[in-house]
This record gives sequence, structure tokens and C-alpha cells, in this order.
Amino acid sequence: MDIKKLVLAVIIGGVTSTAMAVDKNALRTQAKMMHGPIPEIMPGAESDTPALIDLGERLYFETALSADGSQSCNTCHRIDGGLGGVDNEATSLGVKGSRGDRNSPSVWNAGFHVAQFWDGRAEDLAAQAKGPILNPVEMAVPDKQTAINNLKAAGYEALFADVFKGQAEPLNYDNLAKAIGAFERTLITVDRFDEFLAGDDSAMTETELKGYQTFVQSGCASCHNGALFGGAMYMKMGLINAYENSHDLGRFAVTNNPADKYVFKVPSLRNITKTAPYFHDGAVAELDEAVAQMAWMQLGRKLSDQEVSEIVAFLGALEDTHTITVKYLNSGAEVGQ
Ligand code: HEC
Ligand code: HEC
Repeated sequence: MDIKKLVLAVIIGGVTSTAMAVDKNALRTQAKMMHGPIPEIMPGAESDTPALIDLGERLYFETALSADGSQSCNTCHRIDGGLGGVDNEATSLGVKGSRGDRNSPSVWNAGFHVAQFWDGRAEDLAAQAKGPILNPVEMAVPDKQTAINNLKAAGYEALFADVFKGQAEPLNYDNLAKAIGAFERTLITVDRFDEFLAGDDSAMTETELKGYQTFVQSGCASCHNGALFGGAMYMKMGLINAYENSHDLGRFAVTNNPADKYVFKVPSLRNITKTAPYFHDGAVAELDEAVAQMAWMQLGRKLSDQEVSEIVAFLGALEDTHTITVKYLNSGAEVGQ
């Protein structure tokens, strides 16, 4: 290695050369400061009772919440079998066979985000959960009362009465959303990056650690920041170089502020390996392509193939390594019954 490269390597963290091993302790300290592990508890979860969470879980898998009984939340946000909380479609297929304009984002860790949806139009999980059931291209139930009647027919009255004790009409739309939100607050991923932060030097490979460094040095962390590597703010898609699909105006539709045209919530990169295809329109199938396009659009940079593959390797360490046991699968009937 020549001296100029060595000096440069030292200045930017001492890990840019393959000849040099990554200083794991220094990197851990930096990563804890810049990103940190995912918090153990989601905001608002403190008062969620096991009974409320269990009802929410049942409802999450409840197909009676769609017009023709074919879809549950889990249809578009698959969390069974170690899946990433998405449907892996470019845009989701609703009950009537029509597709919306947007890619389904993951429900994993969603309750940590500043707001819900690509454009942040719902303030929290409970507010969000009220949308898809009545959305004509999603679950397409005509009105709230029909949703409630469907649940009555599916035998939910006693379950709601048990959880919302003392209320005159426990089975109502607000309580439905509240319960689903409570269940979603339990959906927290577990990954090797956090194991590394907790002190396990063997949790990530040298390439993955180097990839983290490349991610930070390239400027990705300016938007994909905090414990979630995103979910904390809104930014323009195509900040430096425009995105080719100019159809979706993003947050402009929520705020009517011209400065919000093409502005979207910065998505979390936790578990990103499991949530292809990418971007709000699901236009990009592969993660390496999404990374290269991001660098060009958001930072005006062309990354080398090696930089892209390092970053992609690092993103692999953000992949969820745990699988939840699903109690209720489609129809709300207990699995195995
Ligand atoms: C037909 C597919 C479909 C169904 C069914 C569906 N969703 Fe979604 N979901 C989507 C799409 C598409 C979006 C993004 C829409 C947007 O941003 O405008 C979304 C967004 C979300 C988000 C926001 C995540 C984030 O990062 O902003 C959450 C949470 C969510 N859905 C939960 C649910 C719940 C709970 C149900 C059941 C009541 C449900 N979804 C039913 C397709 C679906
Ligand atoms: C200026 C802010 C900004 C910077 C810098 C930035 N991103 Fe993004 N990123 C976003 C926004 C906003 C989106 C959502 C874009 C959309 O789909 O409309 C996004 C989306 C993504 C996605 C797709 C996520 C998904 O769920 O579909 C990936 C992967 C990604 N970014 C990786 C990176 C990487 C790697 C870098 C650095 C090379 C980077 N980003 C730099 C703001 C940024």
C-alpha cells in the first residue's frame, strides 16, 4: 500500500483497505452512536396487555375483514414462515383483482416509524389499520359497520367484550384498530448487526463490517439514520438526479405543499433483504440495483461494483434471523383446529 492511500485510510477510519483488518471496537462505538440497536419496546406498547395483543393477532390473520373473505392483513404483509412482512409483489393485488400504485411496506418494526405509509399519511399503527379494510383496491369492505357485522358473524363479540371490559359496545372499529396496532407493536426484528453491537465480534463478517463503513462514508446514513436505518424522516426521491417514475407525488398529496412533491418517508433498511422488490412503486427487483440507483439519485454518486456489493453484504446483517410461531392463520381459526 502506498503512503497516500494509507494516510487516506487512516483519516476515514482505517478500514478502507482489504490489507487492514477492521477495528471492531472502534466501529462498534461509532455504530452504537450513529445507529444503535433496535429498542426492545415500541412506543405505546407499555400499556398493551397480552389479551389485547392476542386479539390483535387473531384479527391480523382474519379474512372476514375483506369483502369476499379472501384477504387478511397477512396476505399483503406476510409474517408467517420467517417472511419479511410484505407480499414481494411490485404492487399488491387487492380482493377485486385490481392493483394499487404502491409497493407494500413491511409491518416489521413499522411502529418505530415517525408515521405510517410511504407518504406518512397515518400518524400511527391504529390509524393506519383503519385504512386497508375499507380501501376499495385492498380489502374493499364497503363501510365500518359491515366490517363489524362480519366480525360478529365470525364470533368476535365475546372476545372483544373480554378485552374491552365494561364498554357498552366493545366490538367497534376503533377497538379493532387498537387491537391490531397492539399486535403490530410486537413485530420487532432480531439481527446480527445488533448482536455485533451487543459485543459479539463474530456476528458479522469483515466484508459486512467494511460494507457498513462504505454505507456510512457514501452518505447513505444521512437519510437512513437511527436504529432503524430509516423511518425517521421524509426526503425527496430523486434529490440530486430525478427518479424516472414521476407519477406518484408522494407527500404532496398529504400536505399540498409544492416542496413535498416526490417526497417519501425514508424507508427502514432493517430486514431489507427480505422485502424485494424495492421503492414505493416496487420498480426495482434486486437490492444491488436499488443501492446503485440510490447513490446516483440521492447522492449524485456512481458507486463501484465493489462498493455496491460491500453495502449489500452489510445489509444482509440487518436481516431478521428469528421466526415467529403463528397461532392463527387465515380466518382467525386457531391453527391446528
Ligand atoms: C391488498 C394488500 C394489502 C392489505 C390486505 C393490507 N395492506 Fe397494509 N399496505 C399495503 C400497501 C400497498 C401499503 C402502502 C400504501 C401507501 O403507502 O400508500 C400498506 C401499508 C401498510 C403499513 C405502513 C407501513 C409503513 O412502513 O409505512 C402498515 C403498518 C400496514 N400496511 C398494515 C396493514 C394491516 C394491519 C392490514 C390489515 C388490516 C393491512 N395492512 C392490509 C397493502 C396491503
Ligand atoms: C437524501 C436521502 C437519502 C439518501 C442519501 C439515501 N436514501 Fe435510500 N431512500 C431514501 C428514500 C426517500 C427512499 C424511498 C424512495 C421511494 O421509494 O420513493 C429510499 C429507499 C431506499 C431503498 C429501498 C427501500 C425499500 O423498502 O424499497 C434502499 C435499499 C435504499 N434506499 C438504500 C440506500 C443506500 C444504500 C444509500 C446510499 C448509497 C441511500 N439509500 C441513500 C432516501 C435516501
